[in-house]
Amino acid sequence: MARKKLMAANWKMYKTPNQAREFIQQFLPLVHGHTRDEIVVCPPFVNLSAAIEAAKESNVAIGGQNLHWEKEGAYTGETSAGMLLAVGCTHVIIGHSERRQYFGETDDTVNLKLKTALEAGLTPIVCVGEVLEEREANLTEDVLRRQCLRAFHAISAKKAAKLVIAYEPVWAIGTGKTATPQMAADAHLLIRGEAAKAFGQELSNQLRILYGGSVKQENAKTLMSEQEIDGALVGGASLDPKSFAAIVKY
Ligand code: PGA
Repeated sequence: MARKKLMAANWKMYKTPNQAREFIQQFLPLVHGHTRDEIVVCPPFVNLSAAIEAAKESNVAIGGQNLHWEKEGAYTGETSAGMLLAVGCTHVIIGHSERRQYFGETDDTVNLKLKTALEAGLTPIVCVGEVLEEREANLTEDVLRRQCLRAFHAISAKKAAKLVIAYEPVWAIGTGKTATPQMAADAHLLIRGEAAKAFGQELSNQLRILYGGSVKQENAKTLMSEQEIDGALVGGASLDPKSFAAIVKY
């Protein structure tokens, strides 16, 4: 069975609650009736309620950009899975390269967060990907293998049913450079192989692997036509409703 694509917006640290509401109000009519793909928008935490309220009863889901693995506690600045669920989130991004690069996210914290998100019933979008030096040193496969192996550690196939992976080569994020569909396909096949080892063939066949890194209206169709690419995680080009709608409807 074909995998339904997931088209996800990662707003990073952009927009206020009013701007989030405005975006959703403009975006909904543009994707009205679009059922071919699943659509999710991930705004900053303070905008979640406004976005969820504006997207109520629509075909657009709302997700967080991060979560903490504990239920609650003395963790200043953190947000739990239960809090995301309570405001109405259905998805959560985990281990984005910016979290890994600037905020000390490690393969082990990704694993803890993934376990928590799955346990809570959220759909986790786990980001993996190599930096430029790693690609140039032919280390891409090693890096992806390590990131997957550690992220999937001690998670059962039953628990992993909702897992989504985003392959985001770090050198393609916000740079205007994209991986070729073939480069993405190679990486996705490797990730799918790791998922098969961890969770079995059946789950691996169903696993959605998104591509992220300078996805735009102009390259969305070419990328999404590649059979191994099961959707997109879009940063910069998701901030404008027309642009993100054009990507969703590639
Ligand atoms: P970009 O970001 O589309 O701006 O390259 C993608 C991401 O970081 O998820």
